[in-house]
Amino acid sequence: MARAREHWGSRIGVVFAAAGNAVGLGNLLRFPSKVALYGGGAFIIPYLISLILFGLPLMWVEWVAGRYGGKRGHGTTVGILGLITKNNLGRLLGIFGVAAPVLIVFYYIYIESWTLGYAFHSLIGQMPKPVPTSETSEALKPFADFLKQYTSPSLEAYIFFWITFLLNWYVLHRGIRRGIELVAKVGMPLLLLMGVALAIVIFTSKDPTPEWSAIRGLEYIWKPDFSRILEGKVWVEAAGQIFFTLSLGMGAIAVYASYVKEKEDIALMGVATASTNEFVEIVLGSAIAIPAAFLFFGPASIPELAGAGTFRLGFMSMPAVLNSLPLGFFWSFVWFMLLFIAAFTSSIALIQPLITFLEDEVKLSHAKAVAISMILVLIGAHLSIFVPGYIDELDFWAGSFMLLFFGIVEIIFFIWLFGPDNFIRELNEGSVLRIPKWVAYLTGTVSLAFLVIILLVWTFQNLPSVISQTGLGVWLGRATIFLFLLMLGYLTILSSREEG
Ligand code: PHE
Repeated sequence: MARAREHWGSRIGVVFAAAGNAVGLGNLLRFPSKVALYGGGAFIIPYLISLILFGLPLMWVEWVAGRYGGKRGHGTTVGILGLITKNNLGRLLGIFGVAAPVLIVFYYIYIESWTLGYAFHSLIGQMPKPVPTSETSEALKPFADFLKQYTSPSLEAYIFFWITFLLNWYVLHRGIRRGIELVAKVGMPLLLLMGVALAIVIFTSKDPTPEWSAIRGLEYIWKPDFSRILEGKVWVEAAGQIFFTLSLGMGAIAVYASYVKEKEDIALMGVATASTNEFVEIVLGSAIAIPAAFLFFGPASIPELAGAGTFRLGFMSMPAVLNSLPLGFFWSFVWFMLLFIAAFTSSIALIQPLITFLEDEVKLSHAKAVAISMILVLIGAHLSIFVPGYIDELDFWAGSFMLLFFGIVEIIFFIWLFGPDNFIRELNEGSVLRIPKWVAYLTGTVSLAFLVIILLVWTFQNLPSVISQTGLGVWLGRATIFLFLLMLGYLTILSSREEG
């Protein structure tokens, strides 16, 4: 017997919660870094194609899956795919929709805590000052040293981690409506406001030279460049970014969708989630970090800044730029608060699938489900904090491989097994938009084929080098993934017996 499930309080609350889920560090840090790493305009073409070809369709698939399952007492893909196959095969495959988000949050929540620490330091005016020199890396040296306190954690970094962790616990404990929805309703408007303000500040700063201007930064991103269009890697990275930023291929959107009221307009919700996310990504995400770097360090610095990963642009060049403006401490604070809010509304979305799983399938009480989930997150986060190499291993498997794989599974289940007609009927039920049938056929064929090709290219290009890695972090990462899947599998089988 299904227990009464919670529901979102209002339609606008659903929109904000889902937008908060999708908008995260992926939009403001990962996107600009990937763009810079893959040559600006060369990245954007596959990115936009991926968005249309499978981003929006998968978004709808997850909303359909979530509402369909929620009505029947199942919020995670474990229960939902099980409803479709009516046996354990679906339930077991559905485990990936619980495992992937939680494995990601093991490191995501730690990076989130850095943003809080940086916001605090900015506010009390204690950020380093850039060294005045034309050498980018030398100018950023004080910021590199500062970042080291977080990458190999100081006591301070560890304290900020705990604050972040307890905040997540508190909000999740308050539940769907009084926790997640409330935070999103306050946080998301604030986030949009701060993002727009920062973009304005950057674009109204005086250009030192025409070469070094914020506009040139935008041009760099948006001027189509076909020179790398045949490179498999660029396509794989662009597709991966679409999954990550829209929170797709990991059941996280489906979990939120499972708490809508029966007649909610999910076709509209899907469009609203994707468009808010893309506004923050391609408008704000491209109007802040890269133009700022262009303005202060010039075009030549971009490959260097992006080359060192997601952190340099956000945690080094941005504070360097902002802290040299008038009222710099304040803008630096705004930037890190922006990151913090974006990350916070995403980390709760990454943990909720495990909570929902423990409630809906294992039938634990809410408080118990939250406590157990948070203790697991605490353990995983400690490995991320203290074991070098661990984050990369998790990011590779959970942040890339599983998403592609599970995106394919979701399409097979909801278009092929559920049937394109049923899918479209579910999607259009309660909706003012009428999504035409060909969308389902296109998703089941072209989008599916595209994803399979990407997965194959990705496997050939990356798998050999990843598998050959060794080291403590690598092995601990693999052990974590294995044990976690095993535990979820065991609970899934156990709970289906009771149900059966
Ligand atoms: N979409 C989030 C981001 O861009 C990450 C995320 C993935 C959040 C999955 C929740 C679920 O940062």
